[in-house]
Amino acid sequence: MIEYVDIIYGLAWGDEGKGKIANAMANKYDFVCRWNGGPNAGHTVYVNGQKHKTHIIPSGIFAGKKCVIGPGCVINIDKFFEEIQGLRTAGFDTSLIKISPNAHIITEAHINYDKQHLGHLGTTSQGIAPCYSDKMLRRGRRAIEMMDREWIWDGELSGTVLCEGAQSVWLDIDHGDYPYVTSSSTLPYAACSLGFSPKKIRNIIGVAKAYDTKSGVDPLFPTTLWNDPVLNSIIELGGEYGSTTGRKRLVNWLNLDKLKKSILLSGCTKLIINKCDVLEKIGVFKLIHGNEILHFVSFKEMKEYVMRALLLSSGSDLHDIVWSGDVEKI
Ligand code: IMP
Ligand code: MG
Repeated sequence: MIEYVDIIYGLAWGDEGKGKIANAMANKYDFVCRWNGGPNAGHTVYVNGQKHKTHIIPSGIFAGKKCVIGPGCVINIDKFFEEIQGLRTAGFDTSLIKISPNAHIITEAHINYDKQHLGHLGTTSQGIAPCYSDKMLRRGRRAIEMMDREWIWDGELSGTVLCEGAQSVWLDIDHGDYPYVTSSSTLPYAACSLGFSPKKIRNIIGVAKAYDTKSGVDPLFPTTLWNDPVLNSIIELGGEYGSTTGRKRLVNWLNLDKLKKSILLSGCTKLIINKCDVLEKIGVFKLIHGNEILHFVSFKEMKEYVMRALLLSSGSDLHDIVWSGDVEKI
């Protein structure tokens, strides 16, 4: 029986540092699960000072937890085994990792189609959209047909469960900045596709950053943003380069209008704002609200403004904001 499910997901355009938070929380749960996406995601986590990168494997693996990759995910088998190999070499118990029989498999043809036809959307070229299209056309190949039994999940979730999202609200296929989106459901409700009742959900933990970034193309992030020296210094200090593609991300000031919307839309109960230290080091404090750029004299002033704007927002379930560095409070 499931006791409760907590969900961690991104409120912006990805790359909010969800991996770091999920990793810090993982040891409190029996299961850590992924419900969407595939090798387009990149989670960077530090364990005992060592840097590890995963793309499809849930970060619960670093805490020795049972890890389930759900039916809404897409798998590149070669890349999956590369990740398994890396984790084994680093001494992690990869027998804890299971894949839903209904997860779909990415083929060479999917990757080639993505590279040849979807470049203008700034995809990660991992074959994500073609794989999900074949799933919808009901002609895709599933894990049950393509992978050894030892990797296939045939159990049931039980006890306490952490679900970790990949990509984020504004990359969601239904609610994101279409067509500059990914092809899966990134909102927390979609975690139920793992096979549990929505009534089991306890905390809905959204992660944002103290500034916004976008990997790939989006008209909200014109490339002229790269001409701004302060935003450029955020890229360098914040290490804003894609963990899957290595591409330089576009950076803009935190858009509070979008953040308010994504909190409301997704039912966020706790908000974690990462990378506050980057803004503090840069010493320039701005955000976008009401389509205007607001300028604050200190980070403290900006924080107070954000808290007022978000916590007093009517209709929102948000009751807690954690500024990064305070992960033990979660
Ligand atoms: P796709 O998921 O490879 O089709 O890429 C579609 C869009 O989502 C592109 O703008 C990508 O840059 C973006 N995207 C996909 N996965 C991630 C991610 O994990 N973090 C940030 N952006 C992503
Ligand atoms: Mg990432």
